[in-house]
Amino acid sequence: MIELKNVQKYFKKPVRGKGVWGMFKSLFSRKYTVVKAVDGVSFTVRDGESVGYIGANGAGKSTTIKMMSGILTPTGGEILIDGKHPYKSKERNAVLKTIGVVFGQKTQLWYDLPLTETYDLLRYIYDVPDDEYKKRLNELIELLDMKSFMDAPVRTLSLGQRMRADLAAAMLHNPKTLFLDEPTIGLDVLVKRNLVDAINKLKKEYHTTLILTTHAMSDIELLCERVIILDAGKVLFDGSLDEVKHMFGDTRDVKVTSKAPIDGESVQKQFGEAVIKYAAEDGGHSVTFTIDGTKLSTGELLNYMFAHCEVADVKISETGIEQVVEKIYEKDRANNAGTNGEGVCVDG
Ligand SMILES: Nc1ncnc2c1ncn2[C@@H]1O[C@H](COP(=O)(O)OP(=O)(O)OP(=O)(O)O)[C@@H](O)[C@H]1O
Ligand SMILES: [Mg+2]
Repeated sequence: MIELKNVQKYFKKPVRGKGVWGMFKSLFSRKYTVVKAVDGVSFTVRDGESVGYIGANGAGKSTTIKMMSGILTPTGGEILIDGKHPYKSKERNAVLKTIGVVFGQKTQLWYDLPLTETYDLLRYIYDVPDDEYKKRLNELIELLDMKSFMDAPVRTLSLGQRMRADLAAAMLHNPKTLFLDEPTIGLDVLVKRNLVDAINKLKKEYHTTLILTTHAMSDIELLCERVIILDAGKVLFDGSLDEVKHMFGDTRDVKVTSKAPIDGESVQKQFGEAVIKYAAEDGGHSVTFTIDGTKLSTGELLNYMFAHCEVADVKISETGIEQVVEKIYEKDRANNAGTNGEGVCVDG
């Protein structure tokens, strides 16, 4: 189980003047800006759960992952991974044995070593018994389709190959929890789908707890049942995928095609603001109504349409998580222009 209690991470950045003189002066200055990258985050993740940790650029996602994996120490609050603090030197090693981390932006493999040797080294570091290691490595090679590049030095791998190799490295010691920070960044559609499939299989086979950050909402929809939305270092939402859609805009598009032109305006008059907008195509023979799902059901609208025109075809599409998140990020950007509580301070 993972538990975060009011976790904070503030970064201090010295204020630097311009030019050589400015740089020299800043050596003796006590002025600095404080970036509240993570500002009082609390949540609990149960064993075996899959959580999408999302938020706009700079919201503090990677900083949280780094704290949970013992790379950074929180400024305040407490993090417990299976009852242990990852950032305390005495407990760190025990935590490291139970977690696996992949940072999509940066490989954790040795650049000049072939994968076989890298994995051998990891086996020693994590003290994995020989037979268990062989079995697991073979399973991972199979699952992630890595046979063809096991002997190539890491620096020669393509991004997709490298990402799979990183994932295998993180899974070698059979961690209970896997942190994936943008694991599909820069991958082509096919490789991305294969990787997501593989993560799903790994999750099911080993019952791994998963915390995933990504900007690809399709990854979230395929891998996670719960989402935590971070907004300028604070948790904005924590709940199921369905709930997030409901809270931030339960809209759906209903496209009705008819033999005779449809009078969109009269439909909108009938239902008032429950019909958010409508757009006509094909000389009015096709009209797409965007409706507020909390005020009007698709059934009610269709009943009305069937009664008032000769409906030939109907197409219904729900607002995806993608559009919902777009709305949230837009609001966030308008509110704080992407800063995480930055301000100039003076020591003492
Ligand atoms: N080592 C550091 N020193 C100073 N500021 C930092 C440091 N690391 C992160 N920050 C700042 O903390 C904030 C949060 O950064 P973080 O990398 O956690 O964001 P993120 O949510 O992962 O964003 P992205 O989606 O772009 O990866 C940013 O404003 C960033 O500039
Ligand atoms: Mg990040």
